[in-house]
Amino acid sequence: MKKLIAGNWKMNGSLNDAKKLISDIINGIERERELLNICDFVVCPPFVHINAIKHTLLGHEHATYGAQDCSAHENGAYTGDVSAAMLADMKCRYVILGHSERRQYHNESNELVALKAARAHTAGLKTIICVGETESEREAGKQEEVVKRQLAGSLPSSANAGNTVIAYEPVWAIGTGKTASAADAGAMHSVIRDELAQKLKNAADIRILYGGSMKPENARELLATPNIDGGLIGGASLKADQFLAIARSALAIEA
Ligand code: PGA
Repeated sequence: MKKLIAGNWKMNGSLNDAKKLISDIINGIERERELLNICDFVVCPPFVHINAIKHTLLGHEHATYGAQDCSAHENGAYTGDVSAAMLADMKCRYVILGHSERRQYHNESNELVALKAARAHTAGLKTIICVGETESEREAGKQEEVVKRQLAGSLPSSANAGNTVIAYEPVWAIGTGKTASAADAGAMHSVIRDELAQKLKNAADIRILYGGSMKPENARELLATPNIDGGLIGGASLKADQFLAIARSALAIEA
């Protein structure tokens, strides 16, 4: 399975920054087209930059884009929200849902994430559904229980191997510079794979991404670990050279 290298730009950058970043990424991929044999790329800019990204990516089918959230509602009086259908209209292919920053700062529950994911699937989007334990949950040895509960509650009945990607992002590793060891991440990814297999057909085809301070220095070991099928990358996705270097480390594994 090709690795999925996904950039989560979060709430960063001006319009010009976004245009420069995406054109640097595209130019880098064009210079190293062998990356496309082993990686698929997706970038998830803030909503307001999606249109600019769409224009830059026209004609570059190998890189796709998505959003960082969508509404659980179809349409209507929901000030400030953006619907899944609107994202599909903008030709988004993906939407990240249930990121820990949304769970934490917007009180998003598993049930809400599942409702959003169902809307996204109806609109034809692929969902990148995030799960992951906090530091205190890991210290208490509850990481598997937490992640299993999040998975059980956040996947709607519409989820299938074609429309679902899971991102395991231990909360304590996000933006902190601390990364889960490849062994710990790999152990959790295999738990997630088993859980998916109990729920869905063709679970082996579902990509399970690791997220949390992934960078060029640690990507190779993580991406070489069984059941780690790519990365959801925050900070390092804001620099084209780092984002591409992460993809390049997958090339080194194949060699
Ligand atoms: P990070 O963020 O790479 O900056 O840790 C990852 C994420 O939150 O998706």
